[in-house]
Amino acid sequence: TGLTALDYGFVNTASTKSNITYIDGDAGILRYRGYPIDQVAKNLSFLETAWLLIYGEVPSATELEGFEENIRRHTLLHEDLKDFFSGFPRNAHPMPVLSAGVSALSTYYEDSLDPNNPEHVEIATYRLLAKLPVMAAYAHKKSIGQAFLYPDNSLSYVENFLRLTFGNRAENYEMNPVVVNALERLLILHEDHEQNASTSTVRLVGSTDANLFASVSAGINALFGPLHGGANEAVLTMLGEIKNSGESVAKYVERVKNKEDGVRLMGFGHRVYKNFDPRAVLVKESADEVLVALGVKNDLLDIAKELEGIALNDDYFRERKLYPNVDFYTGVIYKAMGFPPRMFTVLFAIGRLPGWIGHWREMNEDPQTKIGRPQQLYTGEVQRNLPGLS
Ligand code: CMC
Repeated sequence: TGLTALDYGFVNTASTKSNITYIDGDAGILRYRGYPIDQVAKNLSFLETAWLLIYGEVPSATELEGFEENIRRHTLLHEDLKDFFSGFPRNAHPMPVLSAGVSALSTYYEDSLDPNNPEHVEIATYRLLAKLPVMAAYAHKKSIGQAFLYPDNSLSYVENFLRLTFGNRAENYEMNPVVVNALERLLILHEDHEQNASTSTVRLVGSTDANLFASVSAGINALFGPLHGGANEAVLTMLGEIKNSGESVAKYVERVKNKEDGVRLMGFGHRVYKNFDPRAVLVKESADEVLVALGVKNDLLDIAKELEGIALNDDYFRERKLYPNVDFYTGVIYKAMGFPPRMFTVLFAIGRLPGWIGHWREMNEDPQTKIGRPQQLYTGEVQRNLPGLS
């Protein structure tokens, strides 16, 4: 059949061309549309970065204003869609609730479903960016038994999300600029990462001409896995277990090295970064700033730092080029901001959304796109007869 290579996990095979994000894993370089990640994270807003990823350039003031206005116009959820959150158990994890909610958008918005109609694609883009944080906040509110708030369109994107998540109807929500700025930066750092598992999923589903909502919903499910976006929650679980078990950090690292029960150092290692993860450097900076500014004494941060120190000086991790990745310190910051661990991966999803949209649109506009259909090497019986038949 002309099949030449077996490549588990696409370690050596490019599935597409792309001009959105550049990574040099050996040098620890990440650039959005050519701009270094630290410049972007320190100078642009989340929505400016979203525009950059989706449309290719930093927006002018007028373009940004129009974009923000289009997103604001779509923040409300259909009242019937709000009922949808009651159908899940109180203790439901918010990630499947979110993917189900995004999938359900296909049932409400007939004018957003045709991948070959640029107006549909445009409005689906605004709807997703507007509604995902609202749904995320509602999934949280449902799990703690509080009433949903309506979005307040006088607030910024990130402020609106914080108020919907932490505010209540009885009192005004006091915005803490330290939290707003740090969350904005963390979300920017997550906005795109070229062909990671969830983005590749979005592109693969989209390659069948499935609409943007259906494709992004699939991406959210891919992100849920603990080896991908779920790692930020898994890191905090790991740090908590170390703290509660009374086991020393060094002992825990020994167990990881001995691969006891398949235990891994969560938040360490990356398929592409084999030197350092440039996002992790910026996240660590934020961790120190936020925790000091909030006056939070966090023993989990101390454990994380001790863990990092031991691992970075250990041959097991050096030989395998395992370094802290973006998720190693994010959980500690999110916890200090007041998010429950189950919301951590949801925050990753909100951050990654512009990247998913940008890649879906790039795929959709590329005349060379074909339906994604990997090959296999068949290793089963070639042919045999059913028992009793000869
Ligand atoms: N702890 C201990 N050992 C590890 C780890 C780790 N976190 N990661 C890799 N290894 C070992 C692995 O056991 C293997 O050793 P050996 O050669 O002796 O069998 C070697 O390093 C290579 O590992 P691999 O699984 O072949 O590497 P990969 O490129 O397929 O996996 C990874 C990359 C991120 C899935 C992996 O490093 C991992 O599981 N990390 C922990 C989960 C995590 O933090 N994920 C978040 C990734 S960054 C955010 C995102 O994009 O989602």
